[in-house]
Amino acid sequence: MRRDYQLRASEFGWKTSDQRIISAWGFNNSLPGPVLKAKKGDEMVIRVKNDLPEATVIHWHGIRLPAAMDGTDSVQEPIEPGQEFEYRFTVPDAGTFWYHSHFNETKQMERGMYGALVVEDELDPVFDDEKIFVIDDIKLNRNNEFKTGNLVQSWIERHDGRQGDIVLINGTEHPVIDISAGQTERWRFINAASARYVRLSLSGKTFRIIGTDGGLIERPVEVTEAMLIPGERIDIAVGPFDENDTFSIDSLNYNRMTFVKSKNIQMATVRVGAIKPSVAELPERLRTIELLAPQDAPINRKIKFSVGASLKHGIDFLVNGEMHNNDKPVYVDELQVWEIANTSLMDHPFHLHGYFFQVIEENGKAPAYKAWKDTYNLKPKSKIKIAWLPDNRPGMWMYHCHILEHHEAGMMGHFEVVDRAKGPSTHTHHHHHMHHH
Ligand code: C2O
Ligand code: CU
Repeated sequence: MRRDYQLRASEFGWKTSDQRIISAWGFNNSLPGPVLKAKKGDEMVIRVKNDLPEATVIHWHGIRLPAAMDGTDSVQEPIEPGQEFEYRFTVPDAGTFWYHSHFNETKQMERGMYGALVVEDELDPVFDDEKIFVIDDIKLNRNNEFKTGNLVQSWIERHDGRQGDIVLINGTEHPVIDISAGQTERWRFINAASARYVRLSLSGKTFRIIGTDGGLIERPVEVTEAMLIPGERIDIAVGPFDENDTFSIDSLNYNRMTFVKSKNIQMATVRVGAIKPSVAELPERLRTIELLAPQDAPINRKIKFSVGASLKHGIDFLVNGEMHNNDKPVYVDELQVWEIANTSLMDHPFHLHGYFFQVIEENGKAPAYKAWKDTYNLKPKSKIKIAWLPDNRPGMWMYHCHILEHHEAGMMGHFEVVDRAKGPSTHTHHHHHMHHH
């Protein structure tokens, strides 16, 4: 089926609480933008009109789409103010995805240029209800304007990423969430923050992880907390809870070597109402994920995420020793086994555009469960080994740190997926960097 959507990007007043209105940038006068929904296999046609005072480009994070639709300035000209662009692609995977600006991101995403994109499948487990939680944070001054700092503050922001002290769940400060007692719901979480690591907890209650970036995992995993890094998604099954219970959705502190110290934050309150019957049915087995490569598969590329001293900025963020690295091409249908090393003392959320990967090893060990990922945390001084298959979608792609300030500061690699039969594309690689001064 074809699904048509219109997104109009503009500036508008947005109430984050009874006390606060901010001047947001976003889609259809809403923060986050509208939830775009489709069924697995649908064709989405999304017309984006830009009524912002500056250019933009919209990226469809996690969707396996053709390169030309990826929404980066490597594959299209930015959409200038007053102009429109039509994105058109099929959604081959069910799961929780999102869309966001991929242009002057540190400003545009901070102001609200993001939204959820959910792809459903008939084979999804049955729940009593479903909720989407898009997590973000903002940093404002006393007049509720987006804060711009002095030199020291901007050095800190470049180092830590911009971490605001006001946490927004679906555009609201500390919302109250209702759920009926006795019921089990699917909660889809998206971390849209520039830099915040969310160690998700439901006041210590157990919940079950059922999906990650690339849809369902093989079987539910029971936990009391789950890490959600910038760009990442997690689907969980929650409940059943007892009548009149109240608890909070928390982001527990996580030390990622930032100047600004991390704290426990209550992001929302959950209120459990009167008991209702349940039709939810969560099977023991959700899906089968075939391993792309064994743990000892030979590595065919090594990538290094590092930081270096910079006279101008204090610190530079590097891939393979360079800012905005141009990495070697990969070829269609040739299995990729990459070792990605983080030699710095900070965490970096590694994101690959357009393709899912499997982490087959992390610091010598296989991960706890199999999953399709597009965003994965590179812990300080650590190495992961990933496997992925470039299917037949040639063109320019990229990987980068999803801390937006690190991405902007150069922590990214461009590469081309080449069809050997056709050879490299003649496409000129634009390379506007997203400067905003
Ligand atoms: Cu959500 Cu290039 O990223
Ligand atoms: Cu980073």
